[in-house]
Amino acid sequence: MLDNLSDPVFGLVFDTVDIGLVVVDVDRSVVGWNAWMARVTRRPTQQVIGKSFYEIFPDVRSTRLPGIIEDAFQVGSSSILTHTLNALLPLQGEGGEQILHNIVVRPVSSERANYCLLQITDVTVAVTRERVLRDRQNARYHAIVDSAPDAIITIDDNRVIQWVNGAVDHVLGYGHAELLGQPLDILLQADNQLVSALSESSVDQKSDAAISIVGRYKNGKSGNFEISLGHWRADQRDFVTTIWRDVTERAAADAALRDARDALQRSHDELESRVEERTREREIALRQLHESQKMESIGQLTGGVAHDFNNLLAVILGSLSLLKKSVPQEPRISRLLDRAIQGAERGATLTTRLLAFARRQELKVEIVALQRLIPEMLDFLRHSVGPNIEIRAEISPEVGTIEVDANQLELALINLAVNARDAMPQGGSLTITCHNETSGKSIGLSRDPFVCITVTDTGEGMSEATLARAQEPFFTTKGIGKGTGLGLSMVHGFTAQSGGTMRIRSQPGKGTSVTIWLPRAKEGSKAANVETTLAHPKVARSLRVLLVDDDILVSMGAADMLLDLGHSVTEAQSGPHALKLLESDAPFDIVVTDYAMPGMNGFELAQRVKERNPKLPIILATGYAELPADRSIEFGHLSKPYTSKDLAAALEKAVM
Ligand SMILES: Nc1ncnc2c1ncn2[C@@H]1O[C@H](COP(=O)(O)OP(=O)(O)OP(=O)(O)O)[C@@H](O)[C@H]1O
Ligand SMILES: [Mg+2]
Repeated sequence: MLDNLSDPVFGLVFDTVDIGLVVVDVDRSVVGWNAWMARVTRRPTQQVIGKSFYEIFPDVRSTRLPGIIEDAFQVGSSSILTHTLNALLPLQGEGGEQILHNIVVRPVSSERANYCLLQITDVTVAVTRERVLRDRQNARYHAIVDSAPDAIITIDDNRVIQWVNGAVDHVLGYGHAELLGQPLDILLQADNQLVSALSESSVDQKSDAAISIVGRYKNGKSGNFEISLGHWRADQRDFVTTIWRDVTERAAADAALRDARDALQRSHDELESRVEERTREREIALRQLHESQKMESIGQLTGGVAHDFNNLLAVILGSLSLLKKSVPQEPRISRLLDRAIQGAERGATLTTRLLAFARRQELKVEIVALQRLIPEMLDFLRHSVGPNIEIRAEISPEVGTIEVDANQLELALINLAVNARDAMPQGGSLTITCHNETSGKSIGLSRDPFVCITVTDTGEGMSEATLARAQEPFFTTKGIGKGTGLGLSMVHGFTAQSGGTMRIRSQPGKGTSVTIWLPRAKEGSKAANVETTLAHPKVARSLRVLLVDDDILVSMGAADMLLDLGHSVTEAQSGPHALKLLESDAPFDIVVTDYAMPGMNGFELAQRVKERNPKLPIILATGYAELPADRSIEFGHLSKPYTSKDLAAALEKAVM
């Protein structure tokens, strides 16, 4: 066919087709060049025929085209070169614009010679359309990607950042250009899962689960991110697009929520346990209230009985001691009288204990130094507990002085020591220790401060049931006739009346420890000399005594004692009666009056007498703590039941 190039029809067709046609011979000389080629190269056919193809297009030498033409001649192969991968011929459209084109290279053989046909197609329109479409698509894509709230970062297979969206700025703090070409690692904390996830996953694997990592903002701070990965491949290279969602605030909120929930749970638990505790405390308080109400009524009953008993004992003791003086010194009678006096004295001791328990005894409060009182008692205590029991007392100098009735304290300690002795029939040891307590709040006492005296034994201890009842009056495990069950009641009554309390700790087989809390004396108060004077002073002169008592029996007993002591007595049965006698100008040196009397009591009488005659001494005889505590000091005082000796001592003190 090539041989017919000069054929008019063929030539017409050759020039009419809308593609470029170039024919070269084995020497690469142009033998065919159609009108389309002449147009786009601005070189007419006659100018190029016979010229070397490479002379016309010198730049083509460095492309793949010469090799392909060679192949077409040598092996008869056809090829296509596309504009996308190759820079081809400098062809221009009418307006001078570059024409994008593909070239198909084919061998063409005739009987005479071999040729090579280059068939050049203009793809400018198609490519431009494609480009417009692609640009539009890209714009749409970028609009979506850039408006995404998450940072989107594409990396290559070396983890170098190739592309980022606009959100990197507000998500990570980096500008667009700052990240391109940087290693992804600048956004990661050293130890993170992303690097391993990247190396493990690949294009073929679809990883849909997001990875939680700790990343790094531009300012160096770390944040929590959830990252999803998408692998893709282009131009034989692997890329990964990573989408970074910042969950730092959510993580913080989650943590806060968790903390709040934990705190809520904790406070709920705490509340529950507090409610339980309060309920328990309330039950204990109710039990204690019930117990103390019970004690209060027993105390009232006991106190009343003991008071009447005291009066009777005063009469008996007074009469007996007078009788002893007046009857002839006959051994049998004296023995009987002594026994009767002893019995009455024991009765008096018992009423003292009852009054102590009932908190109705008269307390002679003074400042007591335990460093002195306890060592002085030790001999007596040793004597009381016997040789099988070792007594130790440790009282350090820091232990403060206390404000109590020293005699009652001694009695309390003796009671505790005797209880300890009874609990240690085979012997053992008894320890007395003291310490200061700044506050009594822990055990429900309102005033401060205290000194605690603890008496501990190594005896048999108490069962729970015994411990619960030990302080009750008349509770004893010692059998009838052996224990009165008033020992601990007395100690308890005494400590309570003194403003303190008593606590017992005991377990069967493990001994018992009784602690008594007593109020500490004010700083700087000096301890009194706690010695009782045993000498009984005698009133030298004879006194004219006005004796006031509503109980005739008691009055008679007291009158007998006064007469026996050498005084003269006028008796009055009531306060008004006594006042009348005083008005009658009958001369009196002293008034001795009972306190508890119907109508006007002894204290009121004493005050009335004092108003009239301030110099007249007055003695108040009381059976229990019924005097207003601060007023009693104004007058002389006598505790019932009293002996003739006590009466003499009180008279002596009053008229001195
Ligand atoms: N140190 C102790 N060790 C073991 N049990 C004790 C101790 N102290 C008291 N008890 C128990 O408490 C009970 C009551 O004691 P409390 O001192 O009030 O009366 P008592 O000792 O029985 O009689 P009393 O004191 O009149 O001799 C005792 O009977 C005993 O069972
Ligand atoms: Mg006892």
